Amino acid sequence: MNLKTPKGTKDILPDETYIWQYVEEKAKNIFNNSNYQEIRTPIFEATELFTRGVGDSTDIVNKEMYTFIQKERSLTLRPENTAGVVRAFIEHGMHRLPTPVKLWYKGPMFRYERPQAGRQRQFHQLGVEVFGIENASADAEVINTAMFLLDELGLKNLSLEINNIGCPKCRNAYKEKIKEAVKPKLDQFCTDCHLRYEKNPLRMLDCKNENCGKLLANPEIEAVINNEFICDDCVKHFSELQEYLQALNIEYKINKRLVRGLDYYNRTVFEITSTNLGSQNAVCGGGRYDPLVEMLGGSPTPAVGWAFGMERVISLLTPPEIKPLDVFIVTNNTKKAFELAEKLRKEKISCDFDLANRKFQKQIEKASKIAKFALILGEEEISSGVLTLKNLQTGNQEKSSFEEVLNKIL
Ligand code: HAM
Repeated sequence: MNLKTPKGTKDILPDETYIWQYVEEKAKNIFNNSNYQEIRTPIFEATELFTRGVGDSTDIVNKEMYTFIQKERSLTLRPENTAGVVRAFIEHGMHRLPTPVKLWYKGPMFRYERPQAGRQRQFHQLGVEVFGIENASADAEVINTAMFLLDELGLKNLSLEINNIGCPKCRNAYKEKIKEAVKPKLDQFCTDCHLRYEKNPLRMLDCKNENCGKLLANPEIEAVINNEFICDDCVKHFSELQEYLQALNIEYKINKRLVRGLDYYNRTVFEITSTNLGSQNAVCGGGRYDPLVEMLGGSPTPAVGWAFGMERVISLLTPPEIKPLDVFIVTNNTKKAFELAEKLRKEKISCDFDLANRKFQKQIEKASKIAKFALILGEEEISSGVLTLKNLQTGNQEKSSFEEVLNKIL
């Protein structure tokens, strides 16, 4: 038998998990300091949540969902988490909480995509969703949080693109204009774009197919894209967002072709990309989705959020230094080692010892590779009740009581 990880999935081994913990810890602290609270939702949900929530014109729903039937119920491994968080928001009556409700989450997502560098079938997202604020201040708040976190993680060469795709009031007229402009050459667009033409023609604008890109670079279509189509309220919302970003010294570019691959967005959409990634260069994506809570059965609640791909962020990081253990206990008396280790761990000192009870010299060698101090507990130390503490960086060695050891290590 030759069992391996399924295509598009990856084991995250100890030489990498410490980097994941570093990112998660940084994110947790920043979210706590900014008054976001963590939410954990199930990894699978009713399929209908995604067909209705993410939208039946999206690639995610049409081609990428891991769906299975259990006792006649259709369930799907979550391809993203905004729909799940909205479901939980409604189910637990969170609209009754004081606004804004600021939530964050992390966890695995599943999309049946063609795996390549930066694109997996099981990947991990870390994201935020803010409910209850229609003002562009909430859009600025979530963008600011993303930029702050990515900056704290030391990521360089990022660029933020923003767009406003209008609201249900003004978008239909724009969709019709796009349809009119692409119609003469519609038969030359890809098969996905044919579906988008029927269900959400806006999505044709950011089709990744090279030929579609060429067809779109046509003066008539450009004119439709560049013409301000959004209503006055959306224009005001977009300029307020820009004022906030300028006040925050956050650089951005307006990309009128940015639409994003999920149907629930209205008004603001944004993406943070990195020039240090290959073709899958989106680190973080998000936007406003005011109609979604009501669409999924809740009371009308404006909302905005983003998610970033953990794998992509981690691939861009300079790994943090591995923290050595405080102490490695060197002894041939395993029972005493257990006792001493417990005493040290109670004092929040990290320590380990040799369960295989190897020769002293071997233990010292191991200690110098992984710890700051060796705490030697030979026969002499056991009979006298005094410990020998060896500083593995300087080589200094001295006899100390347990209390003195604590002081020296701490
Ligand atoms: P998304 O753009 O589909 O948005 O995904 C967000 C991020 O997840 C991407 O920018 C990318 O870094 C990462 N990602 C997506 N697919 C993959 C993959 N197959 N392999 C590796 N990384 C991937 C959403 O999911 C929205 N729910 C974001 C959001 C939250 N909008 C509002 N609130």
